Amino acid sequence: MNKALILGGTSDIGVALAHQYASNGFDLVLAARNLAKLTEIQRDIQIRHGVKVSCVLFDALNYSSHSDIIDSNQDLSDAICIFGYLGDQRIAEESFAEAEKIIDINYKGAVSILNQVAESFINYDGKIIIGVSSVAGDRGRQSNYIYGSAKAAFTAYMQGLRNRLYKSKIRVITIKPGYVITKMTNGMKLPPFLTVSAKKCAIQIFKARTKSSDVVYISKKWWFIMKIIKLIPERLFNRLSL
Ligand SMILES: NC(=O)c1ccc[n+]([C@@H]2O[C@H](COP(=O)([O-])OP(=O)(O)OC[C@H]3O[C@@H](n4cnc5c(N)ncnc54)[C@H](OP(=O)(O)O)[C@@H]3O)[C@@H](O)[C@H]2O)c1
Repeated sequence: MNKALILGGTSDIGVALAHQYASNGFDLVLAARNLAKLTEIQRDIQIRHGVKVSCVLFDALNYSSHSDIIDSNQDLSDAICIFGYLGDQRIAEESFAEAEKIIDINYKGAVSILNQVAESFINYDGKIIIGVSSVAGDRGRQSNYIYGSAKAAFTAYMQGLRNRLYKSKIRVITIKPGYVITKMTNGMKLPPFLTVSAKKCAIQIFKARTKSSDVVYISKKWWFIMKIIKLIPERLFNRLSL
């Protein structure tokens, strides 16, 4: 059964990814907070690709609801965790409520739902779990270290999950986008040569299913940049305004 659960079905990259899956014959379960928006996306995908698409209410912060979502979707081949919240670094420095929201959505919400996914997948070979993290998690930087640290924790979670599920032949793939043009980056001045469209990002995520890498940077440029950034000694790094 080719059926993918997209957790964050209203995200711009998530919508583009849903089209990738559907155009390759996958049925879909779209999960998000906004059912009205999801229903529009569902209709569009069904008309264009002729696959079955269902919608389910999903709030990453409503942890106790997560088991029901997975219990009622036991026939999945893929689960993609793509919701996220960038938040505001400056506000998060002054208000713990904002910092907590960033951590809770990007890390605790992802752990809660993916723990349930892992339990339901564990006895079946060939299933795929994809988690969309970020290059921001590769090194803490003053401009976004609350979000970056939540993504770093998520990256480490994915690494541990991959190690746990290796013998069960379940693939666990971590995706690290750099800049992508979406609602999340709306209004930001992004360098064009380091920025990709949501569609291009989604194509790369879908391709990752059939490639051997467990950790995939959406562009080679970002892999190279982060390699250099990670190598900068802490004493020198502290003087930079990144
Ligand atoms: N855009 C980039 O440059 C970039 C770079 C690196 C990594 N990423 C990661 O890529 C993923 C997709 O982001 P995007 O760029 O497509 O952003 P987006 O269009 O802003 O989508 C973010 C999604 O997260 C959902 N979400 C937020 N809080 C939620 C909650 N409590 N429960 C359930 N869903 C929640 C939003 O749902 P609503 O529609 O209900 O608000 C929205 O669908 C995220 O994990 C992001 O961190 C993005």
